[in-house]
Amino acid sequence: TEQALKDLFAQHFRIGAAVNPRTIRSQEQMLAHHFNSITAENEMKFVSVHPEEGVYTFEDADLLADFAGRHQMAMRGHTLVWHNQTPDWLFEDSQGQPAGKALLLERLRSHIDTVVGRYKGRLYAWDVVNEVIADEGDALLRPSKWLDIAGPEFIAKAFEYAHDADPDAILFYNDYNESHPAKRDKIYALVKSLLEQGAPIHGIGLQAHWNLFDPSLDDIRAAIEKYASLGLQLQLTELDVSVFRFDDRRADLTSLEPGMLERQAELYEGVFGLLKEYRDVISGVTFWGAADDYTWLDDFPVRGRKNWPMLFDAQHRPKPAYDRIAALFAE
Ligand code: G3I
Repeated sequence: TEQALKDLFAQHFRIGAAVNPRTIRSQEQMLAHHFNSITAENEMKFVSVHPEEGVYTFEDADLLADFAGRHQMAMRGHTLVWHNQTPDWLFEDSQGQPAGKALLLERLRSHIDTVVGRYKGRLYAWDVVNEVIADEGDALLRPSKWLDIAGPEFIAKAFEYAHDADPDAILFYNDYNESHPAKRDKIYALVKSLLEQGAPIHGIGLQAHWNLFDPSLDDIRAAIEKYASLGLQLQLTELDVSVFRFDDRRADLTSLEPGMLERQAELYEGVFGLLKEYRDVISGVTFWGAADDYTWLDDFPVRGRKNWPMLFDAQHRPKPAYDRIAALFAE
């Protein structure tokens, strides 16, 4: 078999994959061969572990944490505060009325205590707050129930609670479209203000859901430079390279078109060239998946349409992108 990614990058950064209870079975061998870190794709999200008040369901999350332990892999936690995959009960009081700020923050504290506390010493990092920046317009923050009820304070509070629950965990703010200049500047502004408030934040997660057309390597470089200027460590947390444009809704694209794999290889080579160059500030690179037999992009934005975003094909064989990266890091 081909050289392990984790050996290629050993001197530089951890290399991870998002997994779920199905893929740790169907991809076990290649996961163990190539990766030294995992992230739960859905299983540690709020609704997965805490579907009802006072009811915690850790079976799937534990399954993945045990997998990491068995294979001596590190694990990142994902995620504590998000506007998606968060249960309705959190935002309502016992009368079904909107919860007040004190109640919501108390529930958040208790959730973070329980979840971060459970995996203390096993998870080395957490995506504490995910995707709170608004994509469009002048507003800094995305509209959400969190914001409606608690105001912007919920963000700093989440970092404080996570730090209290596990003082050794590295705490991240995580977002997508992170390399688009306008959103990049907003993410920068948010994190800068958190640092000024003294919030315990240690890193920025660049989700890196990229495609053959966007973003440009120049924009990725500019984003790395800007975030690194805050003095925090950076990780790519959800890397994949879709072969389709973000808004490509054609349902009939059911096979790879000529040249796609080659263009993907070039893009991945450019990306990993940057990662090599900035290895002093980049402490981890996690793919959102591992091989093309399973990717969330098969359902996005056209339900069920196949995509081929990873370094390994559906049979777990290295694609041209793998070869380029291996050559780059063998130098
Ligand atoms: O669990 C149910 C299942 O019971 C049901 O039969 C099935 C029918 O649709 O849905 C299942 O839930 C799905 C869930 O994944 C688990 O497979 C949801 O519909 C689906 O929406 C959900 O998608 C996840 C998505 O986050 C939700 O926003 C993706 O798997 C996951 O890859 C994706 O991950 C996010 C990161 O957390 C944050 N950044 C963006 C990234 C990609 O969207």
